[in-house]
Amino acid sequence: MNATFPNAEFPQLTVVTHPLVQHKLTWLRHEDTNTEQFRNLLREVSQLLAYEATRGLPTELMRIRTPVTEMQSPVISGKKPCLVSILRAGNGMLDGVLSVLPLAKVGHIGLYRDHDTLQPVEYYLKLPTDIAERHVIVVDPMLATGNSAVAAIDHVKETGCTQITLLCLLAAPEGVRNMQAHHPDVPIVTAALDSHLNEHGYIVPGLGDAGDRIFGTM
Ligand code: URA
Repeated sequence: MNATFPNAEFPQLTVVTHPLVQHKLTWLRHEDTNTEQFRNLLREVSQLLAYEATRGLPTELMRIRTPVTEMQSPVISGKKPCLVSILRAGNGMLDGVLSVLPLAKVGHIGLYRDHDTLQPVEYYLKLPTDIAERHVIVVDPMLATGNSAVAAIDHVKETGCTQITLLCLLAAPEGVRNMQAHHPDVPIVTAALDSHLNEHGYIVPGLGDAGDRIFGTM
């Protein structure tokens, strides 16, 4: 899509157009990229996307001494953020995000798609007990229908959490609209907004099944 974001159609969407992100994304999409390369590229892009996703974290001034003088200098204030990975592909983004947020807590949500209803069904949920006091970054590489992201964020909100960001590698317009309908207060940070979903629910042009490409289960 040739547009800038956020815009009136997608007000909660940020697309990171930085050349480093776009270059690595091209190689993630490429069908000849092998599992090892895919994992490394996903870690690197996740690190760069995390930079954008954490732009709004609050800071406070701390009094320090440099070798030259004293000064007031900013540090991130409050409790450290919490990452919530949507299994299994979300785990492919954790290392990259944790490399810039090493003190973040990590929760996991496991969801599978019911074949009849096509709705996500939860099979695993483990979140930090104090998650409500933290900025939560939900990670899942592919925002396709958006049903998993919506369900995962439903759970996070049930804990009382109000500061939530969704971090994904690729988004489909269908998924962004689903998020807009259910969680318009949750910013979405991604590397690209692709064209559409195909009849199998895959993002086009996309990169195939992210979980399979991360874990080599093709
Ligand atoms: N999940 C994936 O892994 N890839 C897609 O294209 C859509 C959903």
